[in-house]
Amino acid sequence: MCGIVGYIGKSSASPILLDGLRRLEYRGYDSAGLATIDGGRIETRKCKGRIQALADLVKENAAAGHVGISHTRWATHGQPNDVNAHPHFDASGRLALVHNGVIENYQALRAPLVEAGHKFRSQTDTEILAHLIGNLYDEAGGEHSKTRLLEAVRGALKQVIGTYGIAVMHLDVPDALVGARRGSPLSVGLGKGENFLSSDPQAVIAYSQEAIFLKDYDVAVVERDGFQIGTVEGGVAGSYEVTKVDFTSDDVKLGDYPHYMLKEIFEQPHAVRDALRGRLSVEDAGARLGGIDMTPQELREVDRVIITGCGTAYHSGLVGEYLIESLAHLPCEVEFASEFRYRNMPMDKDTLVFAVSQSGETIDTLAAVRESLRKGHRTLGICNNVASTIARECGAGVYMHAGPEIGVAATKSFTSQLTIFTLIALLLGRIRHLSNSDGLKIIKELQAIPEKIERVLEQSDRIKEIAAKYAGAKGMLFMGRQFNYPVALEGALKMKEITYIQCEGHPSAELKHGFIALVEPDMPSVFITPDDAMYDSNINSIEQVKARQGPVIAVGTEGRRDLAKIADDVIYVPPCADYLSPLLTVVPLQLLSYHTAVHLGRDVDKPRNLAKSVTVE
Ligand code: M6R
Repeated sequence: MCGIVGYIGKSSASPILLDGLRRLEYRGYDSAGLATIDGGRIETRKCKGRIQALADLVKENAAAGHVGISHTRWATHGQPNDVNAHPHFDASGRLALVHNGVIENYQALRAPLVEAGHKFRSQTDTEILAHLIGNLYDEAGGEHSKTRLLEAVRGALKQVIGTYGIAVMHLDVPDALVGARRGSPLSVGLGKGENFLSSDPQAVIAYSQEAIFLKDYDVAVVERDGFQIGTVEGGVAGSYEVTKVDFTSDDVKLGDYPHYMLKEIFEQPHAVRDALRGRLSVEDAGARLGGIDMTPQELREVDRVIITGCGTAYHSGLVGEYLIESLAHLPCEVEFASEFRYRNMPMDKDTLVFAVSQSGETIDTLAAVRESLRKGHRTLGICNNVASTIARECGAGVYMHAGPEIGVAATKSFTSQLTIFTLIALLLGRIRHLSNSDGLKIIKELQAIPEKIERVLEQSDRIKEIAAKYAGAKGMLFMGRQFNYPVALEGALKMKEITYIQCEGHPSAELKHGFIALVEPDMPSVFITPDDAMYDSNINSIEQVKARQGPVIAVGTEGRRDLAKIADDVIYVPPCADYLSPLLTVVPLQLLSYHTAVHLGRDVDKPRNLAKSVTVE
């Protein structure tokens, strides 16, 4: 979603800002812009479209200066066009601002300013912030100073209802940037003789490996050689921590891969190993998850588990539900994070809540976390981004350690989340009925998974051929049962988000209850049918599709050659325990989506309308 990069230092600001925006490009955006202070002027360049278009503008007409702010916009209020792109300015044109989030009361705030003669140029909710701050700054009078700017920012933010991550600069205070956050991430990146503001430290990883993640209602004044952090209300912030950013600029490089999505699909054996590292204990025949910070007694008292998340994270939670019910015999329910706080489910004091989020910044999941914590429930995060808002607000949980995921389509984060749910189920199960030998068997099965994923990846070229065969389909149906029903949902999501082919995912046996009506020769069905307890029932559903001339692609287990007799195309995965099969069966579906999207010429890593991290409701 929208991205912010701000720079103040000794170097030329525009190349650093453009480089930062490029590193945030994967998050999804539809316009981009920057502003620098160049001597006595603010230079602004902004446009609809890609960052390259902005870079071309800067090349044509340089924006010099050693201080600047920049932005990628994902439209919420007002179309994606040059005028609505950020930065926005106050009435004097001397204050520039970029904003992530939504100002809900912008209409009410705008009315008195319009009456006072302010001219608004855009249709955005953001522009009001620039006018409000500029107005307060001008009204305050006196000497130009960072304190005067800071107080104007504070005064404006106190009037705002909504969410924001902002970076502000003023021509009369050229030696400082002001940043603030509420509900939308912002961090201060620390360098030598230069400092940064960014919505994600990944943006400035080439220049700064230390970051301070601002908390809601923090305000930061950032200068070339220092910074101060306070709160919107006034005074200094209670505490802040300098975090070492645990990846390097190499981690976010494409290397020899044509797309991040393919790179990340191939990183899955590694991601699963990293999710397991140090967490399996042969001695306990179980899992050790120190981050959840619960005693065996407390774990024993858990009588119900609720999992919440969005999109792919929600799907991993659905597999988690099967895992926790079957391995730990605990009632478990999964709810879309966006519905969690509106559903108001009855939960008792021994309910344990898991919030799953790769980015740790998804606003719907964050809202669910806050609602759960407000009700006093123990709420644990399963996040990839260390020090993300969800991870911090949960205070405890399990980090995924999957490394940066850049492709908008979640891939390695899904298999990493499945691995973590297996560990959680093992931990909860071993405290209950799972025997020592059951535990050891699960450990052995888990340890074998990365190598089995490698075997699936070896079939990428063959899957590419299958993708080419079906790329012209008008739609696709994805079906699976039990542990692989959520994999069908995930397969359909992956295919539709990057190919734009209409797809549906269902439990196989639901076919005859309605959507069999869709089956026809140009509507292929993808069956996830490993050699498990559901195999015969899946075969039955495949027969029903074949009887209606529907093409079938099956994901089956090596050795089940009978599948090839009824399915048109079969992709085989190595045998494994039923409950681990999603870790293998999802991989061919990711590759099928990827190759189909490439065949169709889609923008795989940045599919239309989507953002990597959804920080608006
Ligand atoms: O960062 P999160 O895991 O919270 O993101 C949740 C969803 O927005 C995300 O999984 C989305 O559905 C992906 N585009 C799926 O590929």
